[in-house]
Amino acid sequence: MRYENATAIVTGGGHGIGRALAEALAGRGANVVVADVNIERARRVADRIGGLAVPCDVGDPDAVTALVATAADHYGPVDIAVSNAGITDLGPDLDSTPDQVRRIVDVNLLAHVWMAQAVLPSMIDRGHGALIQTISSAALITGPSGMGYTLTKHGALGFAEWVTLNHSADGVRVVCLCPNAVYTGFLGRDEDREQDGPTPLDPKLAALGEVIEPEDCATCALDALDAGRFLALPHPRVGESFARKAADYDAWLRRTAPRVRRIRGQIGA
Ligand SMILES: NC(=O)c1ccc[n+]([C@@H]2O[C@H](COP(=O)([O-])OP(=O)(O)OC[C@H]3O[C@@H](n4cnc5c(N)ncnc54)[C@H](O)[C@@H]3O)[C@@H](O)[C@H]2O)c1
Repeated sequence: MRYENATAIVTGGGHGIGRALAEALAGRGANVVVADVNIERARRVADRIGGLAVPCDVGDPDAVTALVATAADHYGPVDIAVSNAGITDLGPDLDSTPDQVRRIVDVNLLAHVWMAQAVLPSMIDRGHGALIQTISSAALITGPSGMGYTLTKHGALGFAEWVTLNHSADGVRVVCLCPNAVYTGFLGRDEDREQDGPTPLDPKLAALGEVIEPEDCATCALDALDAGRFLALPHPRVGESFARKAADYDAWLRRTAPRVRRIRGQIGA
C-alpha cells in the first residue's frame, strides 16, 4: 500500500481505535480526514496530526456522502477509507425498542455500506483503494456482547466478504479488524481527560481477558493491509477460537454458552 500523500478517512477518529488508526496513517505520510460525531474530539486529533476534522454521524447516509466529497475536495480522491465508528447496545437485548435496534444497525452495520457506496466508484475507476472496517471478534465468535452489537458485527463481516468477492479484481482491498477487548471508550476510557496519563481500567473488566491498547489494533490493521490479509486479529486466540467453531459448530455453541452467561453476569452486561 502506498501511504505517502494518500487520502485517508477515519470515522470515529476522535477517540480510541479510530484515533490510533488516524495517527498511524498520518505517521506513514497519508493526509487524514478525522471524522467523528464529536467534532471537538475530531479537531483535537486532526490538529495533532495535521489532518482535517469533519463532523459526521455515520448513521446518516447523506452525511457519509458529504464526508467523502469533502475529503476528495480537500486532499483528492479517497484511497483508504477506515469505517471504524461504532456503538454498544442502547437497549436491553431482546427488549430493546425498535428505535434502539435501528440506531445500532445504522451506526454499526449500514455505515459500512454508505461508506463503500461513496468511495468504491472512484477506487474502481482508478484501479486501487482500501477499506479498513473495524468490526469485532463478536463477528467471528459470538461472545458476551449484547444482541444488537452481535448481529450488526456479523452483518458487517458478511458485507466485507461481499465487497471482497465482488471487487478485489477491481483493485479494492478490504481489511476486517476484529479485536477482542481494547482499552477505549467502550471500556470506560476517556482520552479527553488523559493529560496526566491513562485512566485506570475498571478491575471488573479483567473477566474479559487480555485488554490491548488502540495502537496494537492500528499496527495490526495496517500490517494486514500491507500483507494483503482480509482478517486483522490483534488477539491471536480469536483466530484459534474461530477455527474451533468452524471445525465443530455444535460443540462450540455448547462450550461457549455457559462461559458467555458467566462473563455477562460478572461484567453486568
Ligand atoms: N474497544 C473494544 O473493546 C472493541 C472491541 C472490538 C471492536 N471494537 C470496535 O471498535 C470501533 C471503535 O470503537 P472504540 O473501541 O475505539 O470506541 P471509542 O468509544 O473509544 O471511540 C469511538 C469513537 O466513535 C465516535 N462515534 C460514535 N458514534 C458515532 C457516529 N454515529 N458517527 C461518527 N462517530 C461516532 C465516538 O464519538 C468516538 O470518538 C467500534 O466499531 C467498536 O465496535 C471495539
